[in-house]
Amino acid sequence: MQFTAPLAAGLVLLVKHYRNESARRRRIESVLDEYRELFNTPVPRLHAVRDALVEQMEAGLRCQPGGLMMLPSYVDVLPSGHEQGDCYAIDLGGTNLRVAHVQLGQERGATQAVHIREWPIPEEHYDTDGGGLLRYVARCTAEVVRQHSAGGTGDLRPVIGFCFSFPVDQTALDNGRVLVWTKNFRGRYLVGQDVVAALRAELAAEGLPGAVVPAVMNDTVATLVALRYREPDTQLGIILGTGTNCAYLERSAAVGKLPAGFAGRGAAMVVNSEWADMRCAALPGCLEDLWVDCSSTHPGSGLFEKQVSGLYLGEVARRILLRLAEKEGLFGGAVPGLLARHHRFDTAHLASVDEDSSAELAGVGEVLAAVLEIRGTTRRQRQTVQEVCRLVCLRSARLCAADRKSVV
Ligand code: BGC
Repeated sequence: MQFTAPLAAGLVLLVKHYRNESARRRRIESVLDEYRELFNTPVPRLHAVRDALVEQMEAGLRCQPGGLMMLPSYVDVLPSGHEQGDCYAIDLGGTNLRVAHVQLGQERGATQAVHIREWPIPEEHYDTDGGGLLRYVARCTAEVVRQHSAGGTGDLRPVIGFCFSFPVDQTALDNGRVLVWTKNFRGRYLVGQDVVAALRAELAAEGLPGAVVPAVMNDTVATLVALRYREPDTQLGIILGTGTNCAYLERSAAVGKLPAGFAGRGAAMVVNSEWADMRCAALPGCLEDLWVDCSSTHPGSGLFEKQVSGLYLGEVARRILLRLAEKEGLFGGAVPGLLARHHRFDTAHLASVDEDSSAELAGVGEVLAAVLEIRGTTRRQRQTVQEVCRLVCLRSARLCAADRKSVV
């Protein structure tokens, strides 16, 4: 067979292209292997994580250095399931504000009606020094109270439970000094001050001077208490959301932060561990975790949370994909501009990618196009993206399972 010069040149280019392509694939595969290995969680590693957690919880209970916060909640009587009545709940979490109106039912553990309204927390309030966060909370709460009180004119004494998802130092059920803001919240607003007194003042300013706030609870504590109303065997409350944390029932005598001579109503109290801060050399980390930490609102703290929870998982995956795009040409020669943008790819996107089980991974393609404006991807590229997202999800799930086992 004879080749003309242009045909021969074309063939040489084609062979070169395929060679380059398969070399690129091999490099991408070896980077994926690296993460498979880094994120691997064999049982001994999970045991090391569990042991570190138990050790730091115990140190925290004894108020020793290196211990977790282990904050007393002053919840030392749990619902029996027979409670009745009409009340409100404010849930100030990491991303959304929810206000619920709840009517407890006649039967044991029954709820007659729950109406929940939800607002995304406006960006400006993440910098708490603006001072408007609780005013915003009070305004939304007043709206719900008016909506549900007789004739819409406003109940004079609504009973409002306050679920506040940050570390607070309590001396009773109905007070708590803010210790530090976490997740994306920053600033000095209310640090060292009673968050319940501040809320009451804002509710009064919004036309609810008679509002009763009998309790402030961390979201983990509130989760445990709420479930206990229905399930008498509940011992733990775990949050896997924007942040992560766990509360559990502990013997009051073992809680070092309780004042000397504290005489509670029960022998046990719910303790908020603030496990987001757990540290352990065996945590399966990678370079991207360091980048995520450095560029976070609170560098150096919540390192466990940064491997596990919703505020960070998308960002870890985005950074790994960026490495693959920059160093290994995952998406061809050019690096997609939006992939280099902080927090452009969030955990909801990561979850959609993870969940796509279609043969051609069309869902992954849609996310890449809609969120990162990466179009016309090959199946192999989409497969790589899914594998990265799955590795990040799996690491989080395994770490949570290791920690849950340790406290049960
Ligand atoms: C906070 C905890 C909270 C958890 C889940 C963490 O960042 O410090 O108080 O329970 O997020 O919302």
